[in-house]
Amino acid sequence: MSVVPAIELNSGASIPQLGFGVFQVDPAATKAVVLDALEVGYRHIDTAAGYANETAVGEAIAESGISRSDLFITTKQRPADQANALSGDAIKSSLDKLGLPFIDLYLIHWPTPARGLYVESWHALERFAEQGLTRSIGVSNFLPEHLDRIAVESATLPAVNQIELHPQLQQRDVEERCLRAGIRVEAWSPIARGALVDTPEVDAIAAKYGKTVAQVTLRWHLEHGRIIIPRTVRKARMVENFALFDFALDPDEVAVLDALESGKRVGPDPATNNNI
Ligand SMILES: NC(=O)c1ccc[n+]([C@@H]2O[C@H](COP(=O)([O-])OP(=O)(O)OC[C@H]3O[C@@H](n4cnc5c(N)ncnc54)[C@H](OP(=O)(O)O)[C@@H]3O)[C@@H](O)[C@H]2O)c1
Repeated sequence: MSVVPAIELNSGASIPQLGFGVFQVDPAATKAVVLDALEVGYRHIDTAAGYANETAVGEAIAESGISRSDLFITTKQRPADQANALSGDAIKSSLDKLGLPFIDLYLIHWPTPARGLYVESWHALERFAEQGLTRSIGVSNFLPEHLDRIAVESATLPAVNQIELHPQLQQRDVEERCLRAGIRVEAWSPIARGALVDTPEVDAIAAKYGKTVAQVTLRWHLEHGRIIIPRTVRKARMVENFALFDFALDPDEVAVLDALESGKRVGPDPATNNNI
């Protein structure tokens, strides 16, 4: 049995709370990187059609010999495919590249509100779940107003909202809106792309547990019940980012990281990110 806790989703499926992200991993390097991550123990891989490395993720899955039922694979619909979402061409292309009969979690990558297509796209995802092409469906970078429209105009709610979330940008309004509706929050850039603010208080917590600031930050997410998908191409850091289950933060320590909010994003603002 894995040391990684399983989080139950509103679809009835469960997701490993710790996964491995492959954004900006060179497609030529991705197969080896994912094989390393699987060897370290990660069983949840987060890719996207837009990362151009689904084929290499699929090759790693096939070569690993790990049973499909032991893996959790997320991919995402490109914003450009929202216009044609109902055709199913985009999800079929992802399945084809991954070499899989079904995806575990399929996400709308960005709401791109100026396009005005995310609700229609969501209805397409509902149909893909009914057809068995994906076990769970969700969204990414959705703000409360986008979730409100989904709630009013659809039969189902997303299982997950994958958003930028790290100590400097905590998006508490989004997290609260999700939790109220039973939508699990998944943190992207959970360690702020390596640009974590290093304070003496956080350093002291890390020293107390014999952990790094990255590990303390990842543990902070777990204490909040979030799903996390850190990325690294270095095997030693894969091991480091996986070693989160032999310590826990007490509420005062959680509060130290809660206090680091500064509104500093490492990625685009979903309210205005339309030209992708
Ligand atoms: N839905 C979305 O719109 C969206 C957007 C962005 C990301 N994501 C997903 O979220 C995943 C994670 O986010 P991210 O890749 O942007 O950022 P991240 O995981 O917060 O940070 C990755 C960066 O941190 C470095 N790093 C990793 N472990 C470290 C450690 N223990 N100590 C110090 N530095 C470390 C990595 O460098 P090295 O590789 O050199 O170790 C890399 O530069 C992505 O891979 C992707 O799957 C989703």
